[in-house]
Amino acid sequence: MAKVVILTGAGISAESGIRTFRASDGLWEEHRIMDVATPEGFARDPALVHRFYNARRAAARAAQPNPAHVALAELEADPGHEVLVVTQNVDDLHERAGSQNVIHMHGSLFGALCHACDHRWPAPEAMQPQDTCPGCGRKATRPDIVWFNEMPYQMDRIIRELEAADLFVSIGTSGNVYPAAGFVQDAAMCGVETLELNLDPSAGSTMFDTSRQGPASVLVPQWVRERLGSR
Ligand code: OAD
Repeated sequence: MAKVVILTGAGISAESGIRTFRASDGLWEEHRIMDVATPEGFARDPALVHRFYNARRAAARAAQPNPAHVALAELEADPGHEVLVVTQNVDDLHERAGSQNVIHMHGSLFGALCHACDHRWPAPEAMQPQDTCPGCGRKATRPDIVWFNEMPYQMDRIIRELEAADLFVSIGTSGNVYPAAGFVQDAAMCGVETLELNLDPSAGSTMFDTSRQGPASVLVPQWVRERLGSR
């Protein structure tokens, strides 16, 4: 049984029509990342931030998984592989492709969080500042998304799984945002083999044992076919 930990980023969903973050000038869908992806930005203008994530949620709902998501689900279904997908993405395309073992380290568009009492519940289609928390009744709701300066989810488990893996694969991520960008070093230090599949060489490309460049919808199914053929 090969234990594989797979980190995914915005690049795996690009061919499903969901735009990546750093495609142009540090803007994310025409907004400065610091305005829409920090607790300070939310405190300044919660209505804007809710509108922004409401639009991202609608776009994610309208998108479909692409062959890269599907291939990872096929690998997980194979009895010779134990697969964990750690995604930085807040869409649900991995789950809709059939992956079951998924950690959303940066949260999810489909979750709501109360910043007063930490209660969590499924996000409605559209969130707004006047919504009340079903737990404590306060107007303190926010998308359950990990913003800059906040701690990603399930880090202890991710590091444990990474250290025990046979192979670490990074797909469609620019390697700019820590701690995810440091996973390749954590893995390498434990003797775990590392592979990158990305459109361009990422910031940390040279740290991987192997780095392949191309679109995820081609590279990922190709790599999965190699794995499944190699048993
Ligand atoms: P980025 O937008 O920084 O990087 C996307 C990467 O995907 C780039 O290296 C592209 O070359 C690559 N790419 C684009 N299209 C691709 C394709 N079709 N196939 C394969 N690769 C492709 O996105 P992330 O690295 O995911 O955090 O960004 C990390 C975090 O920064 C996000 O989770 C988000 C963001 O701010 C938070 O919101 C906290």
